[in-house]
Amino acid sequence: MTKSATALLSVLVLAAAGVCSAADDGVDAATLARIAQYDKGPTSVDVSRYPKVIQGDYRTFRQKCSVCHTPARPINSDFALPDEWSRYVKRMMHKPGSMIGAVDAKRIYTFLVHDASVRRESLLESKLALLAPADRAEQEAKIAAVRPDYRAP
Ligand code: HEC
Repeated sequence: MTKSATALLSVLVLAAAGVCSAADDGVDAATLARIAQYDKGPTSVDVSRYPKVIQGDYRTFRQKCSVCHTPARPINSDFALPDEWSRYVKRMMHKPGSMIGAVDAKRIYTFLVHDASVRRESLLESKLALLAPADRAEQEAKIAAVRPDYRAP
């Protein structure tokens, strides 16, 4: 390889690393501290009792949401409402280098909403309780859309 080709290659490698770093850009110190706590938690979810299709969605989640940070970040985060997850999945989709398409995003959202309704039930309930009745009904309908056996508390 020529010298300039080597130089070009190292520039490309550095660029690729930059594109997909967990560069916590534009996030304040309090958020960074909160995120650091999430990252220290468990990196996987026991999905053995989840429906098969949700287990498939979990595989997509693990593959796509562990590129820049480990899956511990979403697994231990404070998000639980469907609208919180759709906002964050979109935010992550739009990060440079994320490579998350619409079909994957839908699967990931479905997993996260299902998972929150099972594993983070009390967090979810406390968030639902703070909503105005119409907003609450809307979030409950979105949970039921991914989890037909969901019964509002
Ligand atoms: C291209 C890199 C990249 C990918 C892929 C990625 N993330 Fe992130 N994620 C980040 C960065 C950078 C931050 C910290 C700054 C921020 O919140 O924007 C972050 C932060 C987070 C947070 C913490 C936000 C907070 O404020 O509490 C959650 C939750 C999260 N990601 C979930 C996900 C999920 C779910 C996926 C898969 C859909 C995903 N991430 C994929 C880069 C990525």
